[in-house]
Amino acid sequence: MDNLKIPTHVAVIMDGNGRWAKAKGLPRKMGHVQGGKNVEDMLYICDELGIKYFTVYAFSTENWKRSEDEVSALMTLLRSYLSSGFKKAAKNNVRIRIIGDKTGLATDIQDLIRDLEEDSKNNTGLQFQIAINYGSRDEIKRMMQRTAEKIKNGELEPSDIDERYISDNLDTKDIPDPDLLIRTSGEQRISNFLLWQIAYSEFYFASCHWPDFGKEELIKAIEEYNKRDRRFGDAK
Ligand code: FPP
Repeated sequence: MDNLKIPTHVAVIMDGNGRWAKAKGLPRKMGHVQGGKNVEDMLYICDELGIKYFTVYAFSTENWKRSEDEVSALMTLLRSYLSSGFKKAAKNNVRIRIIGDKTGLATDIQDLIRDLEEDSKNNTGLQFQIAINYGSRDEIKRMMQRTAEKIKNGELEPSDIDERYISDNLDTKDIPDPDLLIRTSGEQRISNFLLWQIAYSEFYFASCHWPDFGKEELIKAIEEYNKRDRRFGDAK
């Protein structure tokens, strides 16, 4: 543990809340409640381990297709954390940013997000990103639309578009690309998460469900990451 190289940015696809609940004979919603608690615990664990950036996939653009009951339970949970648990984290020097299309969210949630982002913007502790109404293709589409407008208005030349421009104009601008991407619950897919940003990330798939992914599991993922010989496309 002592000699572990700690990844600067860890991103997580939090899968398996439903299966966790089912295995315990509980309603799916309870899996999300437990998953939310785990996100809050994880903020303090990441900070303790020296991780600087932590990003979670809380609600995808595809998640709207779930039952009305489940979508509503997830939105209630997000409201509650944005107005309480994450506010507390912000008081503890955590900076919070939301990635995704905020305009598609209820206006009271947009207000909570605005306040939380504003209140925590100078915090220098853990940099915590929550993906809400996020889909990587949608993020790229929105960036393309803004870019096309700038070209149409004569503010930008097509030749100004390089990789730096794209990185600087995605929702994750100012946030370094993830070093380590973790997905829980055994599935080995990316599900439209940070497609541009994970070009050189290491992937780690944990078999346990998200509510059971604690400090020990995270250390296991970091140990595995330490065994990898990271490559960035260059010859070694
Ligand atoms: C995937 O599990 C998880 C989600 C779709 C939602 C993730 C949300 C949370 C962890 C709680 C709220 C988040 C915050 C930031 C407070 P699943 O339902 O797809 O599980 P399954 O594949 O086992 O059905």
